[in-house]
Amino acid sequence: MRIDVLTLFPEMFAGYVGQSLLKLAIQRGLVDVRLHNIRDWSSDKHQSVDDRPFGGGPGMVMMAPTVVECVEAVQTGNDETYDEEHRRVEPGHLVMLTPQGRRLDQRVVEELSTQRRLVLLCGRYEGFDERIRMVLAPDEISVGDYVLNGGEVAAMTVIDAVIRLVPGVLGDDESAHCDSFSSGNRLLEHEQYTRPREYRGLEVPEVLLSGNHEEIARWRAERSRQRTAERRPDLLSD
Ligand SMILES: C[S@@+](CC[C@H](N)C(=O)[O-])C[C@H]1O[C@@H](n2cnc3c(N)ncnc32)[C@H](O)[C@@H]1O
Repeated sequence: MRIDVLTLFPEMFAGYVGQSLLKLAIQRGLVDVRLHNIRDWSSDKHQSVDDRPFGGGPGMVMMAPTVVECVEAVQTGNDETYDEEHRRVEPGHLVMLTPQGRRLDQRVVEELSTQRRLVLLCGRYEGFDERIRMVLAPDEISVGDYVLNGGEVAAMTVIDAVIRLVPGVLGDDESAHCDSFSSGNRLLEHEQYTRPREYRGLEVPEVLLSGNHEEIARWRAERSRQRTAERRPDLLSD
């Protein structure tokens, strides 16, 4: 999967991209993450990307020409980060990170994971000039009903959730299938234990030590249903 991130703060991704599962996925050629600085598409000498809102009010708004031209250049491969091979990549699925979008959940993550290419557009300040949305018609996605300072952490959330579903990224692809909310069951996962067998008087449930795989599977399915009923009954009525 190819992921392009359009942001005013590409440096924010350096630590994230260089760690853990994502780092390995990139090294193994399963995921390709490209960062693009929206400011590079600014046309004035101050490299402005934002301006005061018409009608007054606090803050600054990201300007349509800079953002639209950045997105179009990246989607068509008409920017300098591309080599011939990447120029042939399809325009991809454009996601605008915004608190006003449809809420990210595992169903949306599964949907996004079927894309061969994602283009993630991160906002800042008071957000985007409305004409950016009107011209580009992006898939608008929110990571929750709260307001972040920018779309970068939201984009990392999308990447983190989506790459788990890219075949080969997890050591065992089955593990994503068993996770909470996943299409395997849409329930919370059962509790997990590892060594030691006893900690501060708390014992690992006997069944998990039994070696009886059928019994263990039954116990886990039952615990998964019970936990969901206790913590997230709404999932059972979906
Ligand atoms: C301070 S927010 C702007 C919020 C906007 N004034 C509003 O009330 O809808 C700046 C940027 O952060 C990102 N952002 C903030 N909260 C978000 C959320 N819950 N989900 C996704 N992106 C978010 C968006 O890219 C947004 O353009």
